[in-house]
Amino acid sequence: MKILVVGGGGREHAIIKKIKENPQVEQIFALPGNGGIAQDATCVAIGAKEIDKITAFAVENGIDYAVVAPDDPLVLGCVDALEEKGIPCFGPHANAAIIEGSKVFSKNLMKKYGIPTAAYEVFDDCDKALAYLETAPIPTVIKADGLALGKGVIIAMTREEAKAAVVSMMQDKQFGASGDHVVVEEFLTGPEVSVLSFTDGKVVIPMVSSMDHKRAGDNDTGLNTGGMGTVAPNPYYTDAIAEECMNSIFLPTIEAMNAEGRTFKGCLYFGLMLTDKGPKVIEYNCRFGDPETQVVLPLLESDLLTVMQATTNGTLAETPVKFSDGSACCVIMASKGYPQAYDKGFEISIPAAVAPHVYVAGAELKGETLCTSGGRVLGVTATAATLADAIDKAYGLTAQVQFDNAYYRRDIGAKALKAKG
Ligand code: AMP
Ligand code: GLY
Repeated sequence: MKILVVGGGGREHAIIKKIKENPQVEQIFALPGNGGIAQDATCVAIGAKEIDKITAFAVENGIDYAVVAPDDPLVLGCVDALEEKGIPCFGPHANAAIIEGSKVFSKNLMKKYGIPTAAYEVFDDCDKALAYLETAPIPTVIKADGLALGKGVIIAMTREEAKAAVVSMMQDKQFGASGDHVVVEEFLTGPEVSVLSFTDGKVVIPMVSSMDHKRAGDNDTGLNTGGMGTVAPNPYYTDAIAEECMNSIFLPTIEAMNAEGRTFKGCLYFGLMLTDKGPKVIEYNCRFGDPETQVVLPLLESDLLTVMQATTNGTLAETPVKFSDGSACCVIMASKGYPQAYDKGFEISIPAAVAPHVYVAGAELKGETLCTSGGRVLGVTATAATLADAIDKAYGLTAQVQFDNAYYRRDIGAKALKAKG
């Protein structure tokens, strides 16, 4: 089989390495991929948002199955376009990807179908939003409606911060049209859990739970990033909570999307907060999370491609999806300075024994040499029977990877270990 994977980050590298385990796979193309992915797939210089070029490439190269991994192409209708050409795909249609593409849509969906989430108001008028903020409870959370490179969420600890966020989104158009509508949301507290799931629109099969570490610095200090590391499973996510989430969130969401005529197929990501009033949805993503995928897929014992095809064919109920009982830890190695300015172009050295554990995100080949090209450069994942061992092993491997200006958090998994007691 010839497989096409749209995207070019650490998540896509993890998906590609896992798909490669299937003996029927002859060739994998990554569009655009990256310098590290080039070890495992044929990278082609077509951007993830270039839908016409992607479909033309898929047709010309006789692609048997396509995986559309990032949010942008999904929201832009990449799956619809590929299917029109007869190419089966993993990922939701555009009319279902809106669950991530529009926060106004997802909040209204949850309200309509009684799915627990933070209370909220939607504004399309800056003055009205500012007037509301005069008396709104503080802290509050301001969210741009559309995709904003993961930066469209502001936790405002003061009234002034909240107003400044609204002005920058709605008036100054910091995120372009994504700020035409803004959600002002109740501030929730509690442990956060990421639950990725496979769904074919009929059944929903949660994957092993995970915990992201979004802040740049140790002990959750510093700026928000795309994610500095992950562990799985998430110790806060007990069997009892999992059952509650299945009944109050996962199944109701699948059914709500069906009722709206927007059947969701692919990976639906539930970003949850475990509040003292029960689990609530913080956000939906219409795709695998990054860097959650880098700990979740290494624990998947079933064949990924088979499971993906079952979501496409609607046969997930008959398809075994098994995860190991072990734990995984992924440490992200970033360029010093990320998420702000950083230098790049430094040579990366990865010992052969460590390479199978590495998922490359921001690196390019200069000739034969792999060099840093992004803020988050790569992730190093280890699995083990216990979380403590997975963390130790991941840090042992991370220490063997070298490049100038490398920076990584030293406490990935520490909070999870503490929670386990
Ligand atoms: P993201 O949407 O991934 O950029 O990040 C959103 C992050 O903001 C979440 O992971 C939470 O940590 C935080 N967040 C979002 N909504 C709320 C809320 N209603 N209350 C508290 N924290 C929130
Ligand atoms: N790790 C969060 C995300 O992928 O959006």
